[in-house]
Amino acid sequence: MAPPPPLSSAPAQALDPGAWAADQVAAGLERIAPLAAARTTAVRPQLQRVLDAFAAERVGVHHFSSVSGYGHGDLGREVLDRVVARVLGAEAAAVRLQFVSGTHAIAAALFGVLRPGDRLLALTGRPYDTLEEVIGLRGHGQGSLAEFGIHYDELPLTAAGLVDEAGLEQALAHPTRMVLIQRSCGYSWRPSLTVATIGRLIAQVKALQPDCVCFVDNCYGELVEAQEPTAVGADLIAGSLIKNLGGTIAPTGGYVAGRAALVEQACCRLTAPGIGGEGGTSFDLNRLLFQGLFLAPQMVAEALIGAELVAAVFAGLGFAVHPQPGEPRSDVIQAVRLGTPERLKTVCRAFQAASPVGSYLDPVPAPMPGYASELVMAGGTFIDGSTSEFSADGPLREPFVLYVQGGTHHQHLAIALERALVTLASTALLPA
Ligand SMILES: Cc1ncc(COP(=O)(O)O)c(C=O)c1O
Repeated sequence: MAPPPPLSSAPAQALDPGAWAADQVAAGLERIAPLAAARTTAVRPQLQRVLDAFAAERVGVHHFSSVSGYGHGDLGREVLDRVVARVLGAEAAAVRLQFVSGTHAIAAALFGVLRPGDRLLALTGRPYDTLEEVIGLRGHGQGSLAEFGIHYDELPLTAAGLVDEAGLEQALAHPTRMVLIQRSCGYSWRPSLTVATIGRLIAQVKALQPDCVCFVDNCYGELVEAQEPTAVGADLIAGSLIKNLGGTIAPTGGYVAGRAALVEQACCRLTAPGIGGEGGTSFDLNRLLFQGLFLAPQMVAEALIGAELVAAVFAGLGFAVHPQPGEPRSDVIQAVRLGTPERLKTVCRAFQAASPVGSYLDPVPAPMPGYASELVMAGGTFIDGSTSEFSADGPLREPFVLYVQGGTHHQHLAIALERALVTLASTALLPA
């Protein structure tokens, strides 16, 4: 029988998980330091753009309050719409607390613009999970696009997870009212689309069908790059305020932006034909929306630094990560392929325990409205469900990928990561 190995050959994580985890995170922070500095510097032009928009629209304290009831003539809301349009490089925008989520804003855009008999073509493969019921790919009897006679097709992504640009012409051989481009990877293992790529795709679509509306699901992408899809030809975009643009303090809401006539059509779906964007109080919450927008460039930069740290630490341990450390980013999402449900649950549990709110809660996989798979979520955030604050989640399905996003301070992610590594090491869940 072979003699037992000497104690010193035991892996460091088994000998002292706490010291080992602290070392891993410290090394990760050191590795990302130059990138973190670059991200911090990049806040300045984004913030300047926001400040220029505030100044051009002469934002003042009188815009913080709103009107009750119908919400007609809500000066703060009207000015906020114009400020956001300027920041996004769009003709118009509608920022509304009445949008309950990004999915709702996207649905308003789709239902607002599409009419029975129209064709909708997704250029980025299968859209994000919650849009399946909106389109009618899952569920029935809820009034999906399919039930209203809208034909849906999709151009599958290539094996590398890229848009199949070679197949674009054939996919657009039929008259198409709208193409749907999803900027962020969502819950899929693929690169997020850069704004330059989105601009190139739109130019190709317009060359084939000039009247086709190019719609972009902009969730998680806002302020990550110097320009938004609306500045490179997108006709309409939509997203959530409890993600990037809300700067972690918008209490709820979403936005649509783009060509004024299309924004109005989306608003007609949100409210009613004839009312459109003219109704809907801001509940005296305009200050939070303005202030959130002012904070957003900094919050997005912190989230990006945190994402980089997650990538560096998990890649260093041999896990597959997307994007790779140092790769260009077009959204704030960092995917880590954990490979087993135990690891997914363990990391979510550790992240929850390191959260400011509900640290005592044990995240358990559960069904969630709009999703086919059960989800496990760590979201100890001040705004319920906010993914601009540090949060992580993943569908409980192969290959058990954790999606990490948000974070107001990347040092918070350092604390949470250390906790997760200690637990993974002490429960022997690290790869051999
Ligand atoms: C790409 C993408 N689109 C849309 C959504 C839906 O956003 P919400 O959760 O605000 O409805 C998500 C959510 O994660 C997403 O990742």
